[in-house]
Amino acid sequence: MSILVTGGAGYIGSHTCVSLLKAGFDIVVLDNLCNSKGSAVKYIKEITGKDFTFYRYDLRDIESVQSVFEKETIEAVIHLAGYKAVGESVRKPLMYYENNILGTLNLLKCMRERNVKKLIFSSSATVYTGALGKAPFQALTEESPLAVTNPYGRTKLMIEEILSDLYQSDPEWNIISLRYFNPIGAHESGLLGDDPNGIPNNLMPYIVQVAAGKLEKLNVFGDDYDTKDGTGVRDYIHVTDLADGHVAALKKLKNFSGIFTVYNLGTGRGYSVLEIIKTFSKINGIEIPYVIAPRREGDVDMCFADPSKAERELGWKATRNLEDMCRDSWNFQKTVLQID
Ligand code: NAD
Ligand code: UD1
Repeated sequence: MSILVTGGAGYIGSHTCVSLLKAGFDIVVLDNLCNSKGSAVKYIKEITGKDFTFYRYDLRDIESVQSVFEKETIEAVIHLAGYKAVGESVRKPLMYYENNILGTLNLLKCMRERNVKKLIFSSSATVYTGALGKAPFQALTEESPLAVTNPYGRTKLMIEEILSDLYQSDPEWNIISLRYFNPIGAHESGLLGDDPNGIPNNLMPYIVQVAAGKLEKLNVFGDDYDTKDGTGVRDYIHVTDLADGHVAALKKLKNFSGIFTVYNLGTGRGYSVLEIIKTFSKINGIEIPYVIAPRREGDVDMCFADPSKAERELGWKATRNLEDMCRDSWNFQKTVLQID
């Protein structure tokens, strides 16, 4: 019996594959490599010393997804495949709805056909951010109000609603939606990490490219937020901790019979942009030149999790600190530079 990991060659997926293999699960990976490289698959095998089958298939093509379920004995699915860039989703909403929604529907249909009813879905803290700013900020619990402000976020919320409807219609389904906060960091080997194409949108990939001299300076988006130093505060979580969260969720899923539930995966701590720059500089001994720039549209002051439900029910807790995240992010970038 194998765990099918969609998007398993991607940033979070590749780390999740490592965690699963290390925990003794057999896996099958499906990814069309639209935002990742085949070398990630090779590195997962190298790091773990374990083999698995990789299908370079697209979830939008239902026949190829069906063929995976025919060839393999799948016990559960971890579904990470999708597009994730907020700005791009505003410019190309149909592309996002087609990939994220249609891809998920195809997967769910194939699962139902084969009576595979255990699923872990990659959701996001973005499902909360549209509701923020109306009241004083409090750490986000799974019961906090939900609202989204862009097509990417809408696909995440829609999929959660689809999954909830599916469970209502057939309570034999076992579904966990994991709401990730801000994953950064990389595998300690330096072989797996976040290596976006083009100019990065997110903070840590941008910082490492400034450190590497690929970009001149960081634009800090706003220093007049209602936070400790005026810059935006987020809940950064080491991607390996996040990956381990999937293993904890999978173990829990095995014991359930009929459930749809959600968990926040975050550390419960918020760091500002300036704190990230300072820690990165200190731990890696590299100055990060920056300028204060206008606020980025759609950004919120503060966003961090109350991760206590995951700790209570999954026995999972993030263990790596900000220094680990900054060190490992840079270590990965150095490996990329050597390969380039
Ligand atoms: P990623 O782009 O590195 O990984 C996604 C993977 O899915 C890629 O390897 C891509 O090639 C693959 N993929 C995309 N569309 C596909 C399709 N139609 N068929 C097959 N494969 C396809 O992104 P990531 O950061 O690893 O994110 C994984 C998941 O977690 C995504 O669903 C994302 O929305 C969600 N998420 C990410 C973050 C984050 O900050 N990285 C935060 C919250 C949620
Ligand atoms: C982004 C996504 C969000 C997703 C989340 C987790 C956007 C608008 N939102 O949010 O949907 O769920 O990642 O992956 O992309 N910053 C700078 N300069 C930069 C880049 C970022 O100052 O060049 C600041 C931002 O203003 C923010 C913080 O750094 O305060 C983190 O930004 P980012 O890494 O993009 O994550 P989120 O804004 O949380």
